[in-house]
Amino acid sequence: MSEGSRAYFDEAAPRWDALRKSFFSDAVRDKALSAAGVRPGGTAADIGAGSGFITEGLVRRGLRVIAVDQSPAMLDVVRRKFPEPAAVECRLVETERLPVEDGAVDHVFANMYLHHVASPADSIREMARILKPGGTLVLTDLDTHHFEFLRREHRDRWMGFPREDVRAWMSGAGLDAVSVDCAGERCCARATCGAVFADVSIFLASGRKGGSPAPR
Ligand SMILES: C[S@@+](CC[C@H](N)C(=O)[O-])C[C@H]1O[C@@H](n2cnc3c(N)ncnc32)[C@H](O)[C@@H]1O
Repeated sequence: MSEGSRAYFDEAAPRWDALRKSFFSDAVRDKALSAAGVRPGGTAADIGAGSGFITEGLVRRGLRVIAVDQSPAMLDVVRRKFPEPAAVECRLVETERLPVEDGAVDHVFANMYLHHVASPADSIREMARILKPGGTLVLTDLDTHHFEFLRREHRDRWMGFPREDVRAWMSGAGLDAVSVDCAGERCCARATCGAVFADVSIFLASGRKGGSPAPR
């Protein structure tokens, strides 16, 4: 976990909702939630939750959410939006191990998080660890790109990912029914110099943890 990344997102937290809208549309969330087959009464973890983009969609659909992020300022925004702890519980993460018990949730989501972590393979293993048997992981993130300014200006660690790598990491984490496809959405940002405009396709990856879900 990097201090620079945490400081960047702490500073951006009050403006993140507006920034996020300028990068990609709400359709990314709709597609992620549909892919997971979320149902009212379920539990989900939103990893790298930011100001609660995915969390908000889950709460609207009647799920209980654990919102996890490295940035205290982002989690403060989430707490202000969802003050009821029975609906959304915020957990600050300070190491690469997620602060969630094994087999705790029906669904794990991570939107635009994976390209910020040191080891995507380890991170996916952690996300699989906290899923209940039969639970689903849905990742939405950037396909491989060549926009170097996203590293300098947005603290990205990875310049997107080849879909076959994501597929291998998910299978390696023990997930079944792995699929990595085009989300049909794009992420766009202009460099501060004004001369470069990044327009990057977004993939949607999903996988299921083996075993039968416990009856509700
Ligand atoms: C690009 S933002 C996406 C936020 C949100 N998911 C959204 O779609 O608006 C990435 C988020 O991941 C968080 N993050 C980055 N690296 C992290 C790490 N290693 N552990 C936990 N959170 C991390 C950042 O603090 C930030 O809130």
